[in-house]
Amino acid sequence: MVLYFSATGNTEYIAKSLAGVLKDDCLNLLPRIRKHDYSALYSKTPFVICSPVYVCELPRFLTAFLKKTPFKGNRRVYFVFTSGGYAGISGIIAKRIFAKKHMIYKGRAEFRMPGNYIASNMYPAPADEEIKKIIRESSAGIPELADSIRKGRRLKGRRIQLWEILVTLPFNPVWCLIKQPTKKFYATDRCISCRKCEQVCPLGIIHMKKGRPVWVRRTCSHCMSCIQNCPAEAIEYGNITQGKRRYLLGKYL
Ligand SMILES: Cc1cc2nc3c(=O)[nH]c(=O)nc-3n(C[C@H](O)[C@H](O)[C@H](O)COP(=O)(O)O)c2cc1C
Ligand code: SF4
Ligand code: SF4
Repeated sequence: MVLYFSATGNTEYIAKSLAGVLKDDCLNLLPRIRKHDYSALYSKTPFVICSPVYVCELPRFLTAFLKKTPFKGNRRVYFVFTSGGYAGISGIIAKRIFAKKHMIYKGRAEFRMPGNYIASNMYPAPADEEIKKIIRESSAGIPELADSIRKGRRLKGRRIQLWEILVTLPFNPVWCLIKQPTKKFYATDRCISCRKCEQVCPLGIIHMKKGRPVWVRRTCSHCMSCIQNCPAEAIEYGNITQGKRRYLLGKYL
C-alpha cells in the first residue's frame, strides 16, 4: 500500500504514479492526520510511505502520526521523499520510527521536485519550463523504483553524514518555532468563503469566522497548502507572497 501526505501535489503525483505502476492501493493520509485518527493501517504488500521534506526532515506532524499509528500485515516499509533537492536526514528519521515498531526498513528513494515554499524569498520558484523539466525527469525514475519494490530490493539512498544529523536535529525545531509563525497569514477581499483553506490544513488550525479564515495557532508547519490551494489566490503571507505565482503540480500536467 502506498501512503502519502502532500500539500501542493508533488508527493501525491509521485505516490499515485508509483501505486499505478505497482497496481497497489494509494491512500491520502490527510483526513487521518487532521482527525488525529491513529487506527491501525493494514497492508498485504509492503508499505510505501511518500512524504515531502520540510527543513531537512519529514514534516513534524507526519513523524508524530507515523509514530502513533500501528502498521499491520506486511512488515516491510519503503520511504519516498520529494524535496527541492535536499532531503537532509529524512531517511534517518524514517528508519528510527520503524525500527521502534520492529518493522524492516527497506530504504528510501528521493525525488527532486519543484520547490513550493513561497513564504520566503530565499527559495525563488523555478520558471515554468524548469518546473516541467523537473517533473519529467523525476517521472522517469518511477518505473525503476516500482521494479525494485516489486522485487523486494533494498533501496540504496545517499549516505547521510554525521554532521548533517548533528546540525539538523537541533536546527529543525528551532527553525520551526522561530521561522514559522502564522501571524503573517491573512485573507484579502478576494476571499470567496469557500473553506478550502480550512479543509486542507493538516493541523486543522484554520477556522472560518464571519466567512473569512483565521489562523488560530501561533506557529504551524508552513506546508503552504492553504496559500497554494486557495482558488481565489486570496491568502498572503505578509508582503512576501504578494505578486508571487502560486504553485500546484496539477497545473503542469
Ligand atoms: C516548510 C517547507 C520546508 C521545506 N524544506 C525543504 C528542504 O529542507 N529541502 C528541500 O530540498 N526542499 C524543501 N522544501 C520543498 C518541498 O520539500 C518540495 O517542494 C516538496 O516536493 C513539496 O511536496 P508537496 O507538493 O507534496 O507538498 C520545503 C517546503 C516547505 C513547504
Ligand atoms: S481558500 Fe481562499 S477563498 Fe476559500 S475561504 Fe480560504 S481564503 Fe477564502
Ligand atoms: S496554516 Fe496553512 S501553511 Fe500552516 S499548516 Fe495549515 S495549511 Fe499549512
